[in-house]
Amino acid sequence: MTMTGERFAALWGSLSPIGRAGGDGGYLRHSWTDTDLVCREWFVEEALDRDLEVEVDRNGNLWAWWGSPEGDGAVVTGSHLDSVPHGGGYDGPLGVVSGLLAVDRLRERGVTPSRPIAVVVFTEEEGARFGVPCLGSRLLTGAFDPAQALRLQDRDGIYLADAMGKAGLDVDALGPDPSRLARIGAFVELHVEQGRALDVLDAPVGVASGIWPHGRYRLDFSGEGNHAGTTRMRDRHDPMLTLAHTVLAADEAARAHGAHATVGRVDVAPNATNAIAARASAWLDARAADGDTLDRLVGAIQQRAEERARHDGTRVTLAAESVTGEVAFAGDVSRLAALELGAPVLPTGAGHDAGVLSKHVDTGMLFVRNPTGISHAPQESASDADCAVGVEKLTDLLARLSQ
Ligand code: GLV
Ligand code: MN
Ligand code: MN
Repeated sequence: MTMTGERFAALWGSLSPIGRAGGDGGYLRHSWTDTDLVCREWFVEEALDRDLEVEVDRNGNLWAWWGSPEGDGAVVTGSHLDSVPHGGGYDGPLGVVSGLLAVDRLRERGVTPSRPIAVVVFTEEEGARFGVPCLGSRLLTGAFDPAQALRLQDRDGIYLADAMGKAGLDVDALGPDPSRLARIGAFVELHVEQGRALDVLDAPVGVASGIWPHGRYRLDFSGEGNHAGTTRMRDRHDPMLTLAHTVLAADEAARAHGAHATVGRVDVAPNATNAIAARASAWLDARAADGDTLDRLVGAIQQRAEERARHDGTRVTLAAESVTGEVAFAGDVSRLAALELGAPVLPTGAGHDAGVLSKHVDTGMLFVRNPTGISHAPQESASDADCAVGVEKLTDLLARLSQ
C-alpha cells in the first residue's frame, strides 16, 4: 500500500470505532448525541494536532483553518460526521478524513497557499435526528428559518434548541452567516459514491455533475381505532390500509416517471397487534432528474393517497418537510476537477451540503468508488487504496484552487 493509503488506514481507524452499532456494524451517529460529541472531539483533536485553528460557527458547524478564518477567497473542503440509523461509515466521514489528510499532503508537497484553507464538518447533514437534511449548511446559507429549526423535535420529543444548548451552543445565534459565506471562494466535498457507476467504469474517483432535485414529505393518515377481533371488515376505517396502498402507489408512480420514491419510515398509533390503528404517519422520500418530474411524481402519489382514503373512509394530508431544487456543478471548481483529475463525471440522486453551498459558492464534488454500490446501510464500502487516490486527487485540486 502507498504511504497515503497507510496514513488513511491509520486515521480512519481512529474514527471508525466511534458510534458503530453492535450487531450489523452500521453506525448510529446522530447529531448532538453523546456519540456525535465524541466524533466532534475527535475532529477538534486532529485539527489541533495539525496546528489548525478550530472554530464552531453560529450553527454548530466545525471549521479547522490553515490560514486566517478572516481571510478572503478561502478554499474549503469537508463533509459531515453524522449518519442515518445503521448507516455506513463512509458517507460523510470520508470527506472529513480526506480533508485533514489533504492538508497534510499539501504541506508535504511544500504548497504555500495564497488563500486560507479550511476543513469543515457540517452538522445534521442526514436529517436523521431532526428531520431536515443539510440543516447546518441550510442555516448557514439562510435556506432554513432558524426559528423553525429551534422547534424541530427528534423522535423522543427533544427539541433541537435543547440538544444544541446542552452541547454548549448559543441557540439564539442560529441563522444565516453571510459574511462567513462571502469569505469562501471555493468548496469541494469529497464523498463515497452511493452507487456502482465508478466500479463499472473501473475508476477509483469521479467528479459530480449535479444532484437530482429531491424532497421529504410527511403523510399523516387518520381513521378509526377499533377492536381487531370484533370490527367487521366492512365497518373499518383503517389508516394502515390507506398507508399501504400509498406505499405501493409511490413505487408504481416512481417507476412510471423514471424517478425514485421511497417510504422507509412509518409511525403507527397505537401500534398494537390487536387493534386497528387510529393514526399512521409515513415519510416519503422522492427524487427525480428534474423539478417538473418531481412535482408530477409527488402530485400523483398524493392523488392516489387521497383516492384510497376516500375508499377507506380515512383522511390523509401530505406536507413537504424539505425540498431541494436541482443542482448543477457547472462552475470553475467543477470544470477544473473534471479537466485536471481526468475522472469520469457523474450525476447523483443523493443530497449533500455541497448542493446547498453551490447556490452561493463555486462548488464541486469528488466521489470515491464504492464496490458494493450500497449506501445508507452497513455494507457501504471503499478500499483504503481508493481512498488514498481520493486524498491525492483532492490534494491536487486544493493545490490548484489555493494558488
Ligand atoms: C443524504 O444522504 C440523502 O441524500 O438523503
Ligand atoms: Mn447520506
Ligand atoms: Mn453524505
